[in-house]
Amino acid sequence: CGIVGYVGSQVASDRPLDVVLEGLRRLEYRGYDSAGVALVSPEGTLATAKKAGKLANLVEELDLRPLPVSTAAIGHTRWATHGGPTDVNAHPHVAGKLAVIHNGIVENFASLKAGLEADGVRFTSETDTEVAAQLIARAYETTGDLTSAMASVARTLHGTFTLLAVHEDAPDVVVGARHDSPLVVGIGDGENFLGSDVAAFISHTREALELGQDQVVTITPTAVTVTDFDGQPAQARRYTVDWDAAAAEKGGFASFMDKEIHDQPHAVADTLLGRTDAHGRLVLDEIRIDESVLRSVDKIVVVACGTAAYAGHVAKYAIEHWCRIPVEVELAHEFRYRDPVVNERTLVVAVSQSGETMDTLMAVRHAREQGAKVLALVNTHGSTIPREADAVLYTHAGPEIAVASTKAFLAQITAAYLLGLYLAQLRGNKYADEVAEILSELRAMPDKIQRVLDRADRVRETARSMVDTKSVLFLGRHVGFPVAMEGALKLKELAYIHAEGFAAGELKHGPIALVEEGQAVFVVVPSPRGRDSLHSKVVSNIQEIRARGARTLVIAEDGDEDVLPYADEVFYVPQAPTLLAPLLSVVPLQVFACELATAKGLDVDQPRNLAKSVTVE
Ligand code: G6P
Repeated sequence: CGIVGYVGSQVASDRPLDVVLEGLRRLEYRGYDSAGVALVSPEGTLATAKKAGKLANLVEELDLRPLPVSTAAIGHTRWATHGGPTDVNAHPHVAGKLAVIHNGIVENFASLKAGLEADGVRFTSETDTEVAAQLIARAYETTGDLTSAMASVARTLHGTFTLLAVHEDAPDVVVGARHDSPLVVGIGDGENFLGSDVAAFISHTREALELGQDQVVTITPTAVTVTDFDGQPAQARRYTVDWDAAAAEKGGFASFMDKEIHDQPHAVADTLLGRTDAHGRLVLDEIRIDESVLRSVDKIVVVACGTAAYAGHVAKYAIEHWCRIPVEVELAHEFRYRDPVVNERTLVVAVSQSGETMDTLMAVRHAREQGAKVLALVNTHGSTIPREADAVLYTHAGPEIAVASTKAFLAQITAAYLLGLYLAQLRGNKYADEVAEILSELRAMPDKIQRVLDRADRVRETARSMVDTKSVLFLGRHVGFPVAMEGALKLKELAYIHAEGFAAGELKHGPIALVEEGQAVFVVVPSPRGRDSLHSKVVSNIQEIRARGARTLVIAEDGDEDVLPYADEVFYVPQAPTLLAPLLSVVPLQVFACELATAKGLDVDQPRNLAKSVTVE
């Protein structure tokens, strides 16, 4: 869910509502099942509006029934957990003079609700949030102070939550609390902001406070106060946001996704920037894990979800090759709930764009409890996973707004290469001498990605011709395997088409049974200049499926003519070393999914049922 809070000058105006709506627009990628706002005016009136569906529905409702001017406001855009996405279940939830919005899940809400019902409280929604609202309203009646009311209730809640509250009797105050769920503060001049992430207020201020775990924050127009759940003063880290507000705008593209696909040369270049010294050696000072520990690591486990996990698969091929350290890749939620073998000599690498994915965060905690060191590869500053990890290597993709990840994926792969090369350099193995050479190949990748984008018209044409396709298969081998998986994921997420990615070598062990006349199959072909057997095996696979009627859509390296006799379409990408090729070969697949979904009239930035930051397990 996305959360915004604002408090401004004593004079009531439209600004609180405007700021909150703009913040919600920027956070809508976090959830878009419903949206709502609550405003407080100095005369002591609380006004709310909420609507199921996308933010546009709420805006329409506000046009029909405008709310009064105000001094403080909170707003919410929801990804439903408890209770379906209806008007009634949308946030805010009101209890008497108080309104509350919430991200997360209150796990003990049933027992708390039963207690309140026994006391005669009547509930209007099915949500856990309304329970929190009733509890805070009651606590306020006793204390007369919103901050201590919030803290006392936060102490009794189990689960995960960010809560924001406003009260009629305190028209210049917004109070927030967080436990395992994101909340950052934006510091303005005569006004202050709260948001799930800095995108909520980035067009107003770049000065931010990163809150710690289990903290309560109170904002007024001129002050920000932070305490723990016991009401004791607490520390929050102040920082300046280095993201450009314009980076969170579409900038002339039809969708954020299209724009972010085109941002990819920059995302890769920025992730490489400033990470080498004058002698071409890698300098990754931010990996604040003792070098002796890194030298003695005997296993790496990558934990991540979704697209980030496929970046982890690419990392495995590269790191094992360059470092000779065994690398396992595991979905974070599977890692967490089995009994993984990790210890002091294991390096756990948590990959996450948002830095907030709850499944990944739980895996990080579990790994640290077992004594492993955790390195986070994360894109979002001020997020939770880097704070809980031993160290962080940031990807510099800039804000990614479209729900389906593209530029963050390429930046994650790039950061994983840097990590692999850094470990090779540190451990002084046979690839240590080649680090500078591989780095210079890496530095050539942004231009090559640009060349793939410059040639993408044919991919788009093909996508438009396939709007009625019911199923697409994706095959790849070696690093092309995770690329195939990612290509399939993009198509599922965006175009709601059945899509599956396979290891090409696995074809004959099952998937080939799916191939019939006209079945579309993308094949990611490795470089013929790499290990020859790899290339020729994949070319044989294309022949095998073509012979059975498949429509073959081939991604191959410039100059590879071996594929021509068996390809219905070939999309060529520039030449690159095999391990680095995913940075190129995935791009046509991203463009394909984006264009096909657009041609079907779907919203590519906000696909149904998904959310960008999944902050619940
Ligand atoms: C969600 C998003 C995916 C993303 C995954 C992991 O499922 O819809 O696009 O890959 O979370 O997100 P993270 O922020 O941890 O990279």
